[in-house]
Order: sequence, then structure tokens, then C-alpha cells
Amino acid sequence: MEGLFGRAKKIGEVIDQKIRENKNMMIVGHLDADGITSASIIAKAILRKGGRFIVRITNSLRPKTLLDLKEGEYDFYIFCELGAGMAKQIDEAFGGRWVAMDHHQISEDEKGLENIVNAWQFDFDGTREVSAAGISYIVASKMDKDNTDLSCLAVVGALGDRQDQGEGGSMLELNKIIINDAIKSGCLRVVKDLMLYGRETKPIHEAVASTITPFIPSLTGNRDACLATLTSAGIRLKEGARWRTIAELSEEERKKVVEAIIPYLTLAPTATDKVRELIGDVYIMEREDEYTPLKDAREFATLLNACGRMGRGGVGVLICLGDRNLALQEGERIITDYRYTLNNYVQTILSEEGRVVGGSWSFMIVGDGLVDENMLGSLSSILSGMTRFEGKAIILRTATKDGDISFSARKTKGCKPNLNLGSIMAEASRFDGVGGGHDVAAGARIASHRQVEFLKVIEDRLRQANEDESNDIDQTQE
Ligand code: C5P
Repeated sequence: MEGLFGRAKKIGEVIDQKIRENKNMMIVGHLDADGITSASIIAKAILRKGGRFIVRITNSLRPKTLLDLKEGEYDFYIFCELGAGMAKQIDEAFGGRWVAMDHHQISEDEKGLENIVNAWQFDFDGTREVSAAGISYIVASKMDKDNTDLSCLAVVGALGDRQDQGEGGSMLELNKIIINDAIKSGCLRVVKDLMLYGRETKPIHEAVASTITPFIPSLTGNRDACLATLTSAGIRLKEGARWRTIAELSEEERKKVVEAIIPYLTLAPTATDKVRELIGDVYIMEREDEYTPLKDAREFATLLNACGRMGRGGVGVLICLGDRNLALQEGERIITDYRYTLNNYVQTILSEEGRVVGGSWSFMIVGDGLVDENMLGSLSSILSGMTRFEGKAIILRTATKDGDISFSARKTKGCKPNLNLGSIMAEASRFDGVGGGHDVAAGARIASHRQVEFLKVIEDRLRQANEDESNDIDQTQE
């Protein structure tokens, strides 16, 4: 902890120095909720000290992106949730004029760099214990102790990266400390409740229909079926002409909702786990208005993710910086389009022949001609929660606009614990590509003519991980 806090303080001092020198800074954030909150936390900390900056949200740092960024001729660059595995190229482009905040796995060489603050450098598990937004928050809190209110955005970032992996949707280690800061600063409350999407904002049947974790067969994405199911279970869905929300339900009514959903979940072999996924810690943003998608921190994260993935990351940043007028209205429109698009992808993938190819250790899912490259991660996360894909890794691919192939990989329930998709993707992308990520969620982008070699490495490594695990079990039994 001391090491991480010390490094965060030093990086904060570097940024402070640039503010004092009136340098023009570019903050570059990854396009998901964690990247957007991570970039926004640093932006807000700089803004509060009167510094100069712009924020850019981007998909990945490829050599081409670095050239683009360089054209802007900024004095200093701050990378948020980006740059793992790219330190050498970034240095070539910007010399010593950059710092990075991240939680992705990095090589031993990169761990030695002092202008990076990354969870793994200090033996924190960046997949589960702290997000990039958490790291940015620690830097911001070292820049000024009055930045503790930014802890709320760090909670949103961690939820966006599904770091609520403790019992009942709780968070672990450093994230717990950040949650405590948020509670103490009066911007967060944590309660046990139904973890349905839109508990503050949506009519109850729509909240059930919008829930993708867990994926509820026949109900997720099907508003009419949800309305019929909840009505026949005797749940009062309206107050006069107004639809009620999950947040308004009594204890008794909440139980009724769970009982109505259970029969759909029990179609799955892992039904007990799925039912457990329905109830847990709900993170309420105390300073946000009721009935907005920002009130529930998970919904806030989904909104930011939607903005980033639909190519509107700037709207997400404005919301994080405090715009509750035009940016929020725009964000609400974006999320409607985003949900519609994702639902369409899921239905098409599941119904069109040839889109799902089952192998020994993975499902290869073909999104070519259907899935936008920026939406890959959101789609693979949804697919990874579906019972029919359990036990094998999901490798989702799509052809990109400039002729490459982009991959998004996810572990599913029942995958071997030793399987590390992040290192597999990093290794396989040595063929004209970039790739990496976490053990449970990773991605890569490669030149299309290197696909055969790429897939061979993936297949070999998946087989190895599965065989190693069986050997371990054999030896334990002996
Ligand atoms: O895009 P997706 O959500 O699948 O990405 C999963 C993880 O893999 C993210 O943490 C992302 O930063 C990482 N990734 C990467 N290189 C890529 C694509 C994704 O490191 N080319």
C-alpha cells in the first residue's frame, strides 16, 4: 500500500508541476466506463487547480493512434487505462512527457517504470482489487485532500469493470477503502437489494427485461413477457398512471418479484448461483437525483460504457465532470440506442447459422459484418453470462473498418481457474497485433493475414491450461 501511495503522490506532483507551468495537457482515456471515469477524475483534479487540458477517449493505443495524438502537439500526456505493453512506443513518441494510470497486467520491464502507476507494480490484483479509476482517484487524493468526493467516480469505474466480485456483489481490498472514502464524503450509500438494472429509473417489468447479469432466459430483452409474468404474480406495477420502480417496492413485494423470476432461472443448471446474482450490494449515488440513470452506480457505469462504445465518450466525460443538462439528456438517448444495438446482436448471433462455432476449449463467435468493433467487449460480456456458453472461453471476433480483426475474449463460469486470457492474448498478438487484458477478460487486434498463427497460439494455450489443471487434479488425487 505504501509503495502504491508513494508512487501516486509522485505522479500527482508531476501533474501539479505541469499545472504550475501552465502546460497544455492531453488526458487520453480508454473508451469503457473505467477509462472514462479514470480520465475524468484526473481532469476534475486538474480543473480544480486551474490547469489546462483536453480529454480524448479512444479504443486502444495502436501505433497509428500514437501518431494521431502526437499531431496535437500537447506539452504533456496522461494515459488512463491505456498503454499497458506499449511503454516503449509511447516513449518513442513523447520522450519523457507522459505518465500512465492503469490496472492492466504489465511485463516485468514495464513494472520498473516510474512514470507509471499500476496496481500490479505493487502486488495488487488489478482485475479484482482496484480499477484504473481507483488508481486515478488515489493520485487525485494525493494532489489535494479535498478530492475525496471523486471516490464516487472510482466506484463507478470499478463497477464498470465488474470488480464487484466479492460475496453478494461486494468489493475487495483497495476498492473497499475507496468505498469507505465515498461513504464518508457523503456521496455513496451501499444497501442490500435486488440488483436489477434500472431499479431507480425503470418500470419494474422493464428493469427485469433490461437485466443482463444474470441473463434471464425468456425475460431478458422481452418487455412483454416480463409484464405478463409480473402481472400474473400479482405485483402492483403502477401507482395511478405512474409506473412504480424496484426502489419503491416493499420487502414483501421484492420477494414476490424474485419468486416470479426464479422459474425462468431454474432452467439453467447453475440456477442457485444465478438466483444469488439477483440480490446483493447496491451502490447508491447520494448526490444524484432520483429517477436518473446516475442514481445507481452500476447504471451510471453502463451509461458511460454506452457513451464510449457508441463513439460518444466525450458525453460520458461531461457527465462525470458534472453536466446534468444537455450531456445527461444525450447520454440517455445514447443508452437507448446502445441497448437496442446489443439486443439485436445477441438475437442475430444466437439465431444465424455459423455464428457460433464450438471447439474443445472455446466458443468462437463470429461477429463479422454485424458487430461494430467498439461494441465487441460489451457483447462478449453479455454472452459470457449465458448458460449455454458455460465451461468454455468465449472468443468473439469481428472485422474492423481498416481491415484488421478485433477479438474480445471472456472466461465463463466453469472455466479453469489457471486460465489467463490476458497473457494468452498478449502472447498471440505478437503477430502484427496488440493485445492483452485481464485473466477473465481480454482482447486483441491483429492484421487479418496473421489470423491462422494467432488462433493456433490461442488453441495451444487453451489446451495447455486445461491439461495443466487436469494434471494438478490427478496429482492431488494420487
Ligand atoms: O474490449 P474488451 O472489453 O474485450 O477488452 C477486455 C480487456 O482487454 C480490457 O481490459 C482491454 O483493455 C484489454 N484489451 C487489450 N488490447 C486489445 C483489446 C482489449 O489490452 N487490443
